[in-house]
Amino acid sequence: MDRAEPIPDHRAHYDEHGWAQIKRVLPIEVADAMLYKMQQELGGDWESYKGDYIKTFLTDKRAYECYSFDYTPMAALQYGLTPYISTLVGKELLPTHCYFRVYRKGDICHVHSDAHACEHAMSLTLGYSNDYLWEFNISDKYFEADVDNPVDAAQRESHLGFHNLLLSVGDGVLYNGINYLHGRVKPNPNEWTAQIFLHWIDRAGKYAQHAFDGRAAEVVRRADFKFPDEDAPEKLNPDRADLVKARRYD
Ligand SMILES: [Fe+2]
Repeated sequence: MDRAEPIPDHRAHYDEHGWAQIKRVLPIEVADAMLYKMQQELGGDWESYKGDYIKTFLTDKRAYECYSFDYTPMAALQYGLTPYISTLVGKELLPTHCYFRVYRKGDICHVHSDAHACEHAMSLTLGYSNDYLWEFNISDKYFEADVDNPVDAAQRESHLGFHNLLLSVGDGVLYNGINYLHGRVKPNPNEWTAQIFLHWIDRAGKYAQHAFDGRAAEVVRRADFKFPDEDAPEKLNPDRADLVKARRYD
């Protein structure tokens, strides 16, 4: 697959419709590896789970969730995706935040619009327990969110159309989270479905202050390394000792 080839079409579709379906944002193997690591490190059941197990206004049932500032590998995934998403959008973006959610069977995601930090959003599928693709729904209508809450405005519509998108593992839908209603209206057909929601702002746009979720002063800092005296002993990870030995030239 040539990743450069569909970019002009994705960008034009996103500009015109407020969303674009992107195949293989992550190779399937990378999505599998990321989700497996998250399950190992965050926990795969209620007893072990170190993130949040909560019900928000978006779901009917409690879900496993995690905020990127609480789990650095997820933030790092978003940092790494930032140039690619900027290329798709055609603007220089900065990340705001991302959230991980594992939905249980039968749950939905209520149709909603997002806060300003979600100017350019992506819902990315990391895994389905039973391999049933679960439809993502996005409105075919743009709502002027600064004038009226899109959910309220939608109730005055006589007919509201939705696009129903099926995402395979590693696929994402890029969308304008502020001005288009979106959600998952059909119940999750899998025992669980794992998603990441990633959000960016245009660094030159009107929501730029939301970069790094308003925590840029805390996050975007100059690193510093200090060396010991040269006679300080080596420190090696014992699990990697053989590998390190192979890289030695002395
Ligand atoms: Fe949303």
